[in-house]
Amino acid sequence: MEKIDPRTVPQIRLSNGEEIPCIGMGTFGSDRFTPEQVSSAVAGAIKAGYRLFDCASVYGNEDLIGKVFEDAIKSGEVKREELFITSKVWNDMHGRGDVLLSCAKSLRDLRLDYLDFYFVHWPFPNYHAPGCDGDSRNPDSKPFSVDEFMATWRQMERLYDMGLVRNLGMSSMTIPKLEAVLPLCRIKPTVIEMELHPCFQQPDLFDYVVAHGIQPIGFCPIGSPTRPDRDTTPDDVADIQVPELVEIAKAHGVHPAVICLKWAVRRGQIPIPFSIYDNEYISNLRCTVEDPLTDDEMKILTGIDKNCRLIKGQVFLWPGAESWHDLWDEDGTITQ
Ligand SMILES: NC(=O)c1ccc[n+]([C@@H]2O[C@H](COP(=O)([O-])OP(=O)(O)OC[C@H]3O[C@@H](n4cnc5c(N)ncnc54)[C@H](OP(=O)(O)O)[C@@H]3O)[C@@H](O)[C@H]2O)c1
Repeated sequence: MEKIDPRTVPQIRLSNGEEIPCIGMGTFGSDRFTPEQVSSAVAGAIKAGYRLFDCASVYGNEDLIGKVFEDAIKSGEVKREELFITSKVWNDMHGRGDVLLSCAKSLRDLRLDYLDFYFVHWPFPNYHAPGCDGDSRNPDSKPFSVDEFMATWRQMERLYDMGLVRNLGMSSMTIPKLEAVLPLCRIKPTVIEMELHPCFQQPDLFDYVVAHGIQPIGFCPIGSPTRPDRDTTPDDVADIQVPELVEIAKAHGVHPAVICLKWAVRRGQIPIPFSIYDNEYISNLRCTVEDPLTDDEMKILTGIDKNCRLIKGQVFLWPGAESWHDLWDEDGTITQ
């Protein structure tokens, strides 16, 4: 198997001085790929030179991935301190004490004694069953609450104090929510996950996060062509089919997916592409060490933003909410 020397992969310096790779691997099987397929891809990816892995309890595969990490470390293939491992607390574990329990379970499943990053996966305690369809709603769902979010964050800060997690992260936030909570954080997030791909660039949120010294991590960096059906609507644009992007891919002799990643890395976000196929995940890593996009190509790709959000989050809506737009505070205030 082709290997990319991890020392050649560009590194990004976080606000706390820590350096991490400019690309990672996603591990959400999208209801389509089994935990076995995902964990064997993680094993292959470590061999190929990946060092950053985006895990989460709700992906239902941390136990198998943990076995892969343990084997890779025990065999001497990689040292623990060379790996950067993420997990996330799911929406049904925001309650008092539950964040600590959830982190303990992820640590046990992943067979680690610390996590490099621990995220609040969504800023709501709204639960939906894994694999549910897009129309399902939970009558207990509630709009965002600063107090409830901060109660969850205080538990995150305790995990940091205990040395169980080295960095804290938030995910799927908006500028109004960040404005409300960042001043209240004793331990600030060093990273924020957000949906980022050429057709959904979120320039205002991206700039806001960077201006606050926080590193953006971009999920669905290829436009998530294999996302669950519940996250697919007829109006969605497929990034890898946009003519300008396809044209640039032809010029570089690569798949359009690879251009999405080259764009992400040059822009400065950390993409976390998913694939179970070794030819795909190897080319995704290799593209960070060769043949960068030109300024002109970056300009063309800036121009293909279509504000096309794919992960709309409609299953988290609360009774009385009108549409998924209510989750994203589009008028500049937190929707209640
Ligand atoms: N924080 C959050 O709330 C959140 C939300 C969503 C996702 N995430 C994270 O972000 C990760 C990535 O997002 P994602 O999995 O939804 O979408 P993605 O990485 O944008 O797309 C993944 C799909 O792209 C295709 N692909 C990958 N590399 C390719 C290549 N080199 N050439 C051609 N096709 C390629 C594969 O589909 P084919 O099988 O068709 O080749 C793969 O299944 C997730 O795994 C998860 O870790 C986090």
